[in-house]
Amino acid sequence: MPVSYKDIGLVSSKELFAKAVKGGYAIPAYNFNNMEQLQAIIMACVETSSPVILQVSSGARKYANATLLRYMAEGAVEYAKELGGSIPIVLHLDHGDTYELCVSCIESGFASVMIDGSHHSFEENVALTKKVVEYAHKYDVTVEGELGILAGIEDEVKAKEHVYTKPEEVEDFVTKTGVDSLAIAIGTSHGAYKFKPGTNPEIRLDILHEIEKRIPGFPIVLHGSSSVPPELVKIINDNGGKLEDAIGIPEEQLREAAKSAVCKINIDSDGRLAMTAAIRKVLNEKPAEFDPRKYLGPAREALRELYKHKIINVLGSNGKA
Ligand code: G3H
Ligand code: 13P
Ligand code: ZN
Repeated sequence: MPVSYKDIGLVSSKELFAKAVKGGYAIPAYNFNNMEQLQAIIMACVETSSPVILQVSSGARKYANATLLRYMAEGAVEYAKELGGSIPIVLHLDHGDTYELCVSCIESGFASVMIDGSHHSFEENVALTKKVVEYAHKYDVTVEGELGILAGIEDEVKAKEHVYTKPEEVEDFVTKTGVDSLAIAIGTSHGAYKFKPGTNPEIRLDILHEIEKRIPGFPIVLHGSSSVPPELVKIINDNGGKLEDAIGIPEEQLREAAKSAVCKINIDSDGRLAMTAAIRKVLNEKPAEFDPRKYLGPAREALRELYKHKIINVLGSNGKA
């Protein structure tokens, strides 16, 4: 039985984006695959009174089961109320690659979907994105498109080099497709290895500003925006891990971007690092421990702190719920 996001207490990102663009902040888009991640996200957002976009990738749906994830998001709405805060929660498909996947998500309570046609030609990207928009808008579901290619890994797709978004294409893309927001490539990338050691970790804010001039006030999305905190990498490596030369996006640059029309910032890898660091530390320090709650509990706590830090110091979405 298809279900609408409206019936389960979720909201669409349309009004949230309009407010964020005007207010000079970005909404956190945090990925989740399991209960502890979801609990940490909701606790952090309620405690800071921030709206939130819960992101589910196709990999997450395969890992956790689509039905379970949808009910977890529904549970998150009630959980937030129980914690004393009624915050706007969006359930969003991250990196949808087919029309069919987008339809399936919309039918199971998603309020927003990304159709990532960035690996296709411009014309094919337009055609696919437009088709998803036509379906989604019938149900007041918002659609995120993407122009330009991020270096790094996106699910099964791996790109070696960045293909920066061409500012001269954005207006045409947005007009032809009817998308509600646009993900752009300005030097961010997925995963923990975003820059080569010895190079300057800098994103192309100049391209962002050029894009903003072409589509003033239009909601822009940044993927691949983890900062890969060196202290987390150190905890992992000090406790048996082996992450070499992991480098992320400096937080000041993300804060700068969030002040502009960038209204959604995607963060997944930093959460993975925080969780792994906490788990490795417990297991290394207490080798006799075998109750998962004893390492997943500290991992959840580390995630909650990380998410709050991002909201307050990077995104600026605290108090905007
Ligand atoms: O952009 C990718 C997100 O970090 C989701 O990653 O596809 O491994 O779940 P995943
Ligand atoms: P990170 O790998 O930088 O966390 O990016 C996540 C992302 O873009 C999810 O779509
Ligand atoms: Zn992404």
